[in-house]
Amino acid sequence: MQIYFFIYTIGCQMNVNESDILSEALSNYGLLKSKTVDKANLIIINTCSVREHAEHKAFSLFGRLTQQYKQSKIVVIGCMAEYLEQIIKQRFKDIDLIISQRYNNMQSVASKIIKILYINSNIPLLTTTIQKQNNNKIVNYITIIKGCSNYCAYCIVPFVKGNEQSLEYNDILKECTLMVTNGTREIVLLGQNVNAYNNNSINFSTLIKNIAKIKDLLRIRFMTNHPKDFTDELIQTIASTAKVCTNIHLPMQSASNKILHNMNRQYDYEYYVNLINKLRNSISNINITTDIIVGFPNETEKDFYETLDAIKYIKFGKIYVFKYSPRRFTYASKFIDNVSYYDKQKRHIKILEEAKKISSKIITDMVGSNQEILIESYINNTLEGKTKHGYKVLLSNKYNINLGKIINVKITGIKGTSLISNKIV
Ligand code: 5AD
Ligand code: SF4
Repeated sequence: MQIYFFIYTIGCQMNVNESDILSEALSNYGLLKSKTVDKANLIIINTCSVREHAEHKAFSLFGRLTQQYKQSKIVVIGCMAEYLEQIIKQRFKDIDLIISQRYNNMQSVASKIIKILYINSNIPLLTTTIQKQNNNKIVNYITIIKGCSNYCAYCIVPFVKGNEQSLEYNDILKECTLMVTNGTREIVLLGQNVNAYNNNSINFSTLIKNIAKIKDLLRIRFMTNHPKDFTDELIQTIASTAKVCTNIHLPMQSASNKILHNMNRQYDYEYYVNLINKLRNSISNINITTDIIVGFPNETEKDFYETLDAIKYIKFGKIYVFKYSPRRFTYASKFIDNVSYYDKQKRHIKILEEAKKISSKIITDMVGSNQEILIESYINNTLEGKTKHGYKVLLSNKYNINLGKIINVKITGIKGTSLISNKIV
């Protein structure tokens, strides 16, 4: 019987990447990826635990899928499987398999899934490492560092993903080279804290410089960064390595020194602003984005306004705002969650409004400028690409351009948060 699978992915880009690798591993076993869940006889849910909201989303998905698809095998992987296995098992008896394993090795996840599909048969299991090939993917992702050892007071990641572990430098370089041979032109380096990368004294700057030497690779991006690990060497590397893109995600979380201290972020606001200034002075066309948490325990109106003022001053290209949600195991879960939901919501909206004003001005100011874009896809008669600093550009299809090429265009308009161009320069 032909087996079709469908994967739901909740959470960050690292989860999306893991689902991609799993998808490839299952295809190597002869399973087919289904476009719709209705057709699938194997449904996988890749979960996230960073905020309570993500867990609620998964729980309601478990409920709906176990009711609606009784004939299908249902498998749960990811962060929730890691630490909520017993609870999920008790509440959802129809889930067939929960795979809890740190560092989600997709090779072994795939073989565990295959075992439950062919319980009584003796199909041979693959023993070689599955390389992520993703032929024809112009933009491709690779995780270079797993877990995190920073233990920010609010964050569950170190508890579910374990301590920071940099992957082998040689393996990363080999995989990147293979991706480029298969058509990739932009590689995105992933990790909770990519700029802390260190493997046998090879640091993040050296890794970037050596990946940049791969012939035919045009661009390198990376995320996410911790401000405390952003060295001057790294700033210089970005400034002097033409292939490195200039959108830098640098979570600030708060601008109040009291809150930053209680969050165990290991920097203060003055350090953060100084870093922003250094980045802006050294790297041209830089787009700095950030994460903010509102309503961390004991965040007063004064603390909040310090953050809002900082946002007006720094002018981030994009801000991801989150309402604080207490997470099991974390240091902050011992504090009283004493900012009301109403205040969290008010603060959340205020930041979003300010962020929108700033980002629309940045985008509007770009109209008329020339930008270098890498053409990534062709959807609905429109070519899509990204600027070096991370903005999406929709290009009129009157041009016949191959995917994976870098071209210079004039920005002629905007559509939502994207830029539009109908002119190559
Ligand atoms: N509550 C709210 N936001 C959180 N984040 C991480 N943990 C929590 C939490 N408990 C946010 C941080 C982080 C982003 C990925 O998620 O801003 O940078
Ligand atoms: Fe969580 Fe802090 Fe690590 Fe980011 S740096 S994953 S917020 S512990």
